Amino acid sequence: MTMPEFANTHLIEHPLIQHKLTIMRKIETSTHKFRGLLSEISMLLAYEVTRDMPLTLSEIKTPVASMKAPMLEGKKTVLVSILRAGQGIVDGMLRILPSARVGHIGLYREPKTHVIVEYYFKVPKDISERDVILVDPMLATGNSAVAAVHRLKQTNPRSIKFVCLLAAPEGLKQMHDEHPDVPIYTAAIDSHLDEHGYIVPGLGDAGDRLFGTK
Ligand code: URA
Repeated sequence: MTMPEFANTHLIEHPLIQHKLTIMRKIETSTHKFRGLLSEISMLLAYEVTRDMPLTLSEIKTPVASMKAPMLEGKKTVLVSILRAGQGIVDGMLRILPSARVGHIGLYREPKTHVIVEYYFKVPKDISERDVILVDPMLATGNSAVAAVHRLKQTNPRSIKFVCLLAAPEGLKQMHDEHPDVPIYTAAIDSHLDEHGYIVPGLGDAGDRLFGTK
């Protein structure tokens, strides 16, 4: 479903995704389970976000006859993970896009100035010939996603899509204000952000839950 108040946002309401997301949200869900569910949901999100991938007809031989059969056109997609929680989505997406290239962006917020600082950036050299799927489970304030897209645009990829698990209205607005050309795919839009920048009701700190660091 596309959201009229947030043009370019695709809310992925598939029942399997919604069910798995509910289990991920539960406070008692273990790290092991959380990781597995994020991977499963990410496969389903990858299926949705790649719906418009172009195909080309290729001449092949089956054991019975020759035919022109559809194959994905162009160079392999690049999955770009915003560290560290984005890695959980990349792992799942790679299960159905096994030949995708992978890039990483490391960002942190300078505690005094709140300015976003980049500490790591590595993407394929030929990214200008490729489509990018940028991933981070939580679109909260939107600051990291906006900064990541600005940085990626400097490398001139063919296209950029942003995929998250949960979005706050604040983050959606920031992304649309700064990058109206970047479609957003999310499994849910929650109520708001709390005073610490957590999504409410959300699922807590996605990185801590994914890596068991708390
Ligand atoms: N990042 C998280 O991991 N969780 C939130 O709720 C917001 C940002």
